[in-house]
Amino acid sequence: MLDINKIREEFPILGTKVYGKPLVYLDNAATMQKPRVVVEAEREQYYTNNANVHRGVHYLSQQATEMQENARVKVRNFLNAASEQEIIFTRGTTEGINLVATAFGSLLKEGDEIIVSEMEHHSNIVPWQLLQQRQGVVLKVVPFDDNGELDLQKYAEMFTERTRLVSIVHVSNVLGTVNPVKDIVSVAHGHGVPVLIDAAQSVPHFKVDVRDIDCDFLVFSGHKVYAPTGIGVLYGKRELLDKMPPYQGGGEMISTVSFEHTEYETIPYKFEAGTPNYVGANALGIALDFVENIGLDKIHNYELQLANYATEQLSRIDGLRIFGRAAQKDAVVSFLVDGIHHLDMGTLLDRLGIAVRTGHHCAQPIMTHYNVDGMVRASFAVYNTEQEIDFFVAAVKRVIQMF
Ligand code: ALA
Repeated sequence: MLDINKIREEFPILGTKVYGKPLVYLDNAATMQKPRVVVEAEREQYYTNNANVHRGVHYLSQQATEMQENARVKVRNFLNAASEQEIIFTRGTTEGINLVATAFGSLLKEGDEIIVSEMEHHSNIVPWQLLQQRQGVVLKVVPFDDNGELDLQKYAEMFTERTRLVSIVHVSNVLGTVNPVKDIVSVAHGHGVPVLIDAAQSVPHFKVDVRDIDCDFLVFSGHKVYAPTGIGVLYGKRELLDKMPPYQGGGEMISTVSFEHTEYETIPYKFEAGTPNYVGANALGIALDFVENIGLDKIHNYELQLANYATEQLSRIDGLRIFGRAAQKDAVVSFLVDGIHHLDMGTLLDRLGIAVRTGHHCAQPIMTHYNVDGMVRASFAVYNTEQEIDFFVAAVKRVIQMF
């Protein structure tokens, strides 16, 4: 059993009042709140260990480097990657995908094909469209049904000899669908095609094992897994990363530079130009420790319990439609109420102390699928409680009465 009250004490922000009402924070898929240990780790490093990494022979620089490289090992263990050289620190999921779209993408030719899905976040659409503009690659889109499940039959039929990459979301940030990524990878590998997994909404909630999935790239953001903003991870298999040219040029990513010829560093540094967010990397390592100390399985079970409870309660409300009914679904509930605009619902819930996300959730093709311009989304983390869901559901009912 998790002691949720004890966990909540680690998150000072949860004691905040908004408009005089206790905060009920249900916007965790956008960003999670940070526990004391993470905030303290950043503060402590700036107070006692701050120096640039990999550059100095001096004590502080060596300490800072060691902290960053320890964090890399923690990420490797967290994802079960084969080597820490396959762990590249980025600013977040978006940068990870842009890195692959730029560096791996530069190896592609006009007419080469990339498969994405209809339920992607814009960060897994627009980088490929930019590549399309640069190099004339073709984007193919796997559709989903009204329950929010991908059409895997159509997916399997999309491969041709020009397919070069599949880039697919693990858990939809809107529908909560948990896609069968192992099967998706296995089909792609049957055609010799590598797969990138956008794990922004899965890594914070359940165990993600890159060697079990056998994906070729995987990206996630630190801030969605209790870590600070501005730090994220790209995992890539060594043989692919070795073949790819650098993403950005600058310090840290070279071994020698002259005006005639420059040699690049080996991975992961080849992809980490400039001073990295070493303080964020260390704090990410602390956040992953925090998650592992609680236990990802316990977190997952508890969050599913919350999501099921919220779904059940909301389903009893007349005129309320929930989007995303996949058999495998994670801790996200998106909905609309007949006759109430999502923005009005979100704004009025906010006045009652409830923080939810409204709008297109950076996934406009999903909105187009359901012919709506936005939705209201509640998303859960380990510090949420059933009592908060009761407040939230009561608040939704109150808003409905206002119309
Ligand atoms: N991708 C984040 C969300 O779904 C920002 O809210």
